[in-house]
Amino acid sequence: MKWVLIVGSSGDIGSEIARDLATQGWSIYLHYFRNKKKSDALCTNLRQTYPKQDFIQLQCDLTSKTELDKLSEQLFGLDAVIFAQGTTCYGLFHDLKPTEFNSMLSMQLTAPLYLLQKVEEKLARNHFGRIVFIGSVYGGAGSAMEVGYSAIKGALSSFAAAYSKEVGSLGITINVVAPGAVNTQMNALFSEKEKIQIDEMIPLGRFAAASEISYWVQAMLNERAAYLTGETIYVTGGWLK
Ligand SMILES: NC(=O)c1ccc[n+]([C@@H]2O[C@H](COP(=O)([O-])OP(=O)(O)OC[C@H]3O[C@@H](n4cnc5c(N)ncnc54)[C@H](OP(=O)(O)O)[C@@H]3O)[C@@H](O)[C@H]2O)c1
Repeated sequence: MKWVLIVGSSGDIGSEIARDLATQGWSIYLHYFRNKKKSDALCTNLRQTYPKQDFIQLQCDLTSKTELDKLSEQLFGLDAVIFAQGTTCYGLFHDLKPTEFNSMLSMQLTAPLYLLQKVEEKLARNHFGRIVFIGSVYGGAGSAMEVGYSAIKGALSSFAAAYSKEVGSLGITINVVAPGAVNTQMNALFSEKEKIQIDEMIPLGRFAAASEISYWVQAMLNERAAYLTGETIYVTGGWLK
């Protein structure tokens, strides 16, 4: 049985990835942070639909090293890790508080990298390890008002490019799926009028559905995707390209 850890499986993109991978026979460690209710509903639904697979919920605040250590101790078999957690802070970089920046940094960059150090051996065990980060188009193009977030997402792409060179011989691949604007709760703060203005800037004329992002993640976990590593794939409807 193949096991994947989905960090941020309680998010809109993360839960779509969980549904796609469950369809393909994966057993899943379903990580969540605060949204226990959504995680419970997802887990119950997956258990009922796929009774021969296992689904284990893991709660963890990624800004806490103690909690992260506890999470890593609960992982036994592991073939793939997806990092689909994330938050942003809107505002000028000049005004970004060190506490806000550190929280984004540890949750989206240092904690995932620390976790990968802990699970590298497990991922190498079957000479089939897959790591996928959900990055952002802002990691490549950069965005005013989300400078700290853009820097972190860009760092994920640099990390993937570099780490892929170390772990290729272990049968581990690492890639980034970098979305543009996706219709999720992360964008709930935009008014309908603001969303229409963004639609107008996107060549395909609309936000992506979460399933249009999870499609590329599940493709990267396919055995036939074994030759793709160190890449950032932009899924943006042509936006900012
Ligand atoms: N939506 C977009 O337009 C868009 C565009 C480009 C990139 N992305 C990226 O896509 C990924 C998923 O975003 P989404 O749109 O699906 O957002 P979402 O629905 O808001 O999900 C965010 C996820 O992050 C988790 N999380 C938040 N703080 C955490 C912490 N301290 N420790 C551990 N987990 C934490 C949340 O857990 P709980 O809900 O359980 O608290 C949730 O699972 C993020 O990396 C985001 O940067 C999104």
